[in-house]
Amino acid sequence: MSRHRVCRVDELKPGGGREFVVAGRILAVFHLETGIKAIDGICPHAGGPLAQGMVRGEVVTCPWHGWQFNVETGAHQLNPRLCVPCFAVTVDGNDVYVDIADASAVG
Ligand code: FES
Repeated sequence: MSRHRVCRVDELKPGGGREFVVAGRILAVFHLETGIKAIDGICPHAGGPLAQGMVRGEVVTCPWHGWQFNVETGAHQLNPRLCVPCFAVTVDGNDVYVDIADASAVG
C-alpha cells in the first residue's frame, strides 16, 4: 500500500513545515495557503532539514546553506533540473495522507 497516514491537519502549523518519518522516508510537510504539500525532507546539497526551512509563498529555504526549493514541484529555484521528490497529499477528514509510490520530480 502506498498511501500512508502522516498526521492530523491540526498538527501542522499554518505557514510552516514539519518533519515526519513515513514508510522509512523523511518527509517535509508544509501547510500553506494553497494546501498541504509534501517533499523529501533531506536537502540534496548536504542533507539539511528542509522542514525547518523558512517558507515564503511556495518556496522553502534550506536552513543550512540557503538552497531554495518549490514545495509544489520540488524544483530548485536556480537550477530546475535539480529536484527533490514530491509526494501527492490527500486530506481525509482531519487526517493527512501521502502517496509514497507517487513520488515525482519536475525537471
Ligand atoms: S544542506 Fe541544504 S543548502 Fe546545504
